[in-house]
Amino acid sequence: MENPIALNRIAENNVFRRGDVFVLFGELFGRGYATGLLDEARRAGMEIVGITVGRRDENNSLRPLDAEELSAAEDRLGGRIINIPLMAGFDLDAPAGGPTPTDLLASMTLESWEQDKLDWDYIAQCREIATARFTNSLSQVMAVLDGMIAEGRNVFFAHTMAGGIPKAKVFLVVANRIYKGRGARHMSSQALLDSDMGKLILQNFDEVSAITFRHLIDFSAAIRERVEESGAQVRYTAYGYHGTAVLIDGNYRWQTYTNYTQGYAKMRLEGIAQDAWAAGIKATVYNCPEIRTNSSDVFTGIELPLIPLLLALKKENGGQWAEDQWQACQQLLADGFTMNDVIRKITEMQANEVMRPFYDFSAWPMANSQAQSDLTIGTSNEITQMHRDGKAMISDHLSALVVEATGQLIFGESSAPSGPVQWLNHDIVARRLNASHLKREPTAPSIAPGTTGSHLQVA
Ligand SMILES: NC(=O)c1ccc[n+]([C@@H]2O[C@H](COP(=O)([O-])OP(=O)(O)OC[C@H]3O[C@@H](n4cnc5c(N)ncnc54)[C@H](O)[C@@H]3O)[C@@H](O)[C@H]2O)c1
Repeated sequence: MENPIALNRIAENNVFRRGDVFVLFGELFGRGYATGLLDEARRAGMEIVGITVGRRDENNSLRPLDAEELSAAEDRLGGRIINIPLMAGFDLDAPAGGPTPTDLLASMTLESWEQDKLDWDYIAQCREIATARFTNSLSQVMAVLDGMIAEGRNVFFAHTMAGGIPKAKVFLVVANRIYKGRGARHMSSQALLDSDMGKLILQNFDEVSAITFRHLIDFSAAIRERVEESGAQVRYTAYGYHGTAVLIDGNYRWQTYTNYTQGYAKMRLEGIAQDAWAAGIKATVYNCPEIRTNSSDVFTGIELPLIPLLLALKKENGGQWAEDQWQACQQLLADGFTMNDVIRKITEMQANEVMRPFYDFSAWPMANSQAQSDLTIGTSNEITQMHRDGKAMISDHLSALVVEATGQLIFGESSAPSGPVQWLNHDIVARRLNASHLKREPTAPSIAPGTTGSHLQVA
């Protein structure tokens, strides 16, 4: 992508209705992005179908969910789960009796990993075995799913899979230092990418976060053809990340969390949607804002660009409701601190000379630097300490709002999606939230659909 293409309209669903089928391709965690989309699917009366990644037994073999796990997962989802394990990635796959890639990483040490080499032919074998395992299971999943879709029903496939961090001690220590380390504990993300360990991990991110979307599109081809022949429609969505435009100095401006090591996989995901779109398939990657979830909590500082959403709510005419959100966040701060203190800290960080190179969209995903890590992680730690209770954060409150808004935006847009890659920036997220919540306040100013009221800068 040369430039971020912003979604700048609020569309309403006019395709999906009661009895249509919503397929969640990934597991559901309480505060993940998928919860927002599922709320919309439920509201439309759709049948919800889920999958599982399965669980590992004590020998690392992949197994389906047991009866108790399955019933808990189906309750959480509010639908039926096809209980055939769809764990992606090759970190725990190997030829019979041979070491897995995770085993190979286990023999590396903190002193040796930057020089340690991997046998790439062997890794390729592990990767092929994992692909065969995943696609065999996926064929079975699609056969079951086919029987669950009645004639004439529309189908919405929502991909949420992202991950691929191998459970190898040396990598977890390195990752901890890249994403959380300051001062003497800082580690260069480029050093990871230059190592064989880093190259292996990038391949695994590709498998989990990108290539699974292509498998989903390919292996549902027969379902898609049958559904379309019956006059109904099929959509595919996936969650991307490629920075977000947030309010900086009064304008919406593109910025990013650094170092987003998974960024290469996310660009590949965009490419998969573009290829599918060119072949006439309605597949869209929605690049979403930084929020805190089970998956993103590893990245210290990812919550910093989220906090200026409060400014966007005001700028987009959120009236009393925006004021209430500001107050709700203020309540979470310890005595003596105000939201203005928090916003000032973020503004100072954004304006710092050290951050300047990182506003270059075309250079994404850039490696971290000592000064940038110190500043980002330091600001994050300082803001965390301004809270009354470390378990009730401003970023939790705002993450939930973003999940709600993105669910509505993606679901609404999916009736007539306008392209394979779209950014959900803070302006449209704020406008969506204000439009929903101000409905209950008839005196507040109304928002004209189709206007952005803002200019996106990519510097
Ligand atoms: N959190 C953010 O700031 C953010 C921002 C933009 C986009 N996203 C994207 O949103 C999507 C959902 O993530 P989330 O942050 O809501 O977190 P989440 O933890 O709720 O979801 C992660 C998903 O990945 C699946 N997954 C993890 N490892 C897997 C594996 N090996 N094989 C198959 N599936 C696997 C999980 O089952 C789950 O469905 C992801 O694509 C993520 O990259 C997140």
